[in-house]
Amino acid sequence: MTLRLLAFAASLRKDSLNRKLIRVAADLTRRAGAEVDLADFHQFDMPLFDGDILAAQGIPAGAQEMIRRIGAADGLVISSPEYNYSLPGTLKNAIDWVSRAKPMPLRGRSALLLGASTSQVGGIRGLWQLRIPLEGLGVWVHPDMYSLPWAEKQFDEQGGLKEPERLDRLKKLVGDYVEKAGRLAGSRTGAD
Ligand SMILES: Cc1cc2nc3c(=O)[nH]c(=O)nc-3n(C[C@H](O)[C@H](O)[C@H](O)COP(=O)(O)O)c2cc1C
Repeated sequence: MTLRLLAFAASLRKDSLNRKLIRVAADLTRRAGAEVDLADFHQFDMPLFDGDILAAQGIPAGAQEMIRRIGAADGLVISSPEYNYSLPGTLKNAIDWVSRAKPMPLRGRSALLLGASTSQVGGIRGLWQLRIPLEGLGVWVHPDMYSLPWAEKQFDEQGGLKEPERLDRLKKLVGDYVEKAGRLAGSRTGAD
């Protein structure tokens, strides 16, 4: 069975550093044997969560698209910026809409969390915050996370990671996640 993963950067910015990081990670993930659906966060554009919209019109199209693509995958690879010591509101908003779906597609999935930031902490505080809604919704989040500090200096012209040590660590982490996510996907009952 081939492991299927949905990967995206939780940034809408054209020159997003997280977009660069997810491209590197997606490439490594494919090399580790998984099938990767690399999404653009714009494909999941959706309004701010509003219970009245939900009641009157149901889940909006961008959130439906995200729900569909999560449902088609065994797990998620997310590269998220850190905004003000936490996860971006756009990503939390998306999780809130997705959580209203029945069946709720996140339950029983796995996730690997990555982050690129321009500060020396590399966005790790935001990733710890991101674990909370994901784990609350029944996602198995890989214990190890990857944060890329001073990310504006880390990529070469071709979009590769300049420092071999950082690339090596990402490669090992991705390999470890693919192996564990594969076992989890294999043990899923199929009800989800
Ligand atoms: C609203 C906002 C809040 C931010 N807060 C943080 C922060 O708490 N920690 C951090 O490391 N960087 C912070 N940054 C800087 C981001 O790391 C930087 O803008 C990064 O490039 C965002 O990711 P992106 O390039 O994928 O869009 C913040 C940026 C914005 C726009």
